[in-house]
Amino acid sequence: MRFAGRRALVTGAAGGIGQAVVAMLRAEGAQVAASDRDSRAVEADHHVDGDLTDPTFADALPGWAEVLLGGLDIVINNAGVITRGDITTASDADYALTMGVNVEAPFRICRAAIPIMARAGGGAIVNISSCWGVRPGPNHPLYVMSKAAIASLTQCLGRDHAHQGIRVNAVCPNEVNTPMLRSGFAARGFDPDKAVEDLNASVPIGHIAEPEEIADVILFLASDAARYMCGACVEVNGGKPVI
Ligand SMILES: NC(=O)c1ccc[n+]([C@@H]2O[C@H](COP(=O)([O-])OP(=O)(O)OC[C@H]3O[C@@H](n4cnc5c(N)ncnc54)[C@H](O)[C@@H]3O)[C@@H](O)[C@H]2O)c1
Repeated sequence: MRFAGRRALVTGAAGGIGQAVVAMLRAEGAQVAASDRDSRAVEADHHVDGDLTDPTFADALPGWAEVLLGGLDIVINNAGVITRGDITTASDADYALTMGVNVEAPFRICRAAIPIMARAGGGAIVNISSCWGVRPGPNHPLYVMSKAAIASLTQCLGRDHAHQGIRVNAVCPNEVNTPMLRSGFAARGFDPDKAVEDLNASVPIGHIAEPEEIADVILFLASDAARYMCGACVEVNGGKPVI
């Protein structure tokens, strides 16, 4: 029960990784406020749903979580969108959505959560970047840029707020078996099960990540076991480099 008495806000709570994080935090004693566009199907202590591209919603979210939970010790900035295709196919709307969800919302949430955590003597924030945020993959410039920005923000905040007992770190996964990945295959006309099977063969450890394999590292970074980690971007890739 590593998280007994801890209060956590998880965004993207209805997604593949988010659902695993919420369930695993709660199984280890945390009280969790789940946030997504609609997280009602996810078992959680509270639901704070809305659209993260709405600045008013993103600004208010940590404060609402603090009120509902009676405090705020952990924030997991997990919500994300992926926009595919090279830059010539990227619309203004693609740019605004990608930067809005993947960068601006975590910026707003961190900005609001840090003073709350500082008043309470500390806390932990875990951002979800990507291995593509550290080294770019092909044909996803908007997504790659947004994930590099959140990795960089993590390094800055990890350094700036360690003195307040606030640890900010990021997880950088390679491929994870979630709706984000599977919907990409479906959109390109592939059978997602077959495509995941083919992808498994490209990973040295033998399979792409299941959400729980990423959530385990997120929980580690949120836990006291990572008490000396500040501003780290942890790659979780089964041995598969970005090529
Ligand atoms: N799946 C992968 O291969 C992979 C790899 C590296 C990093 N990631 C990152 O992991 C995180 C979780 O992704 P996932 O794979 O579980 O994807 P997912 O699509 O299953 O979940 C993402 C969640 O974010 C929510 N969300 C998106 N836009 C929102 C908005 N405007 N307002 C509120 N909520 C919104 C969605 O509703 C969804 O539930 C993302 O940040 C993603 O970029 C995923």
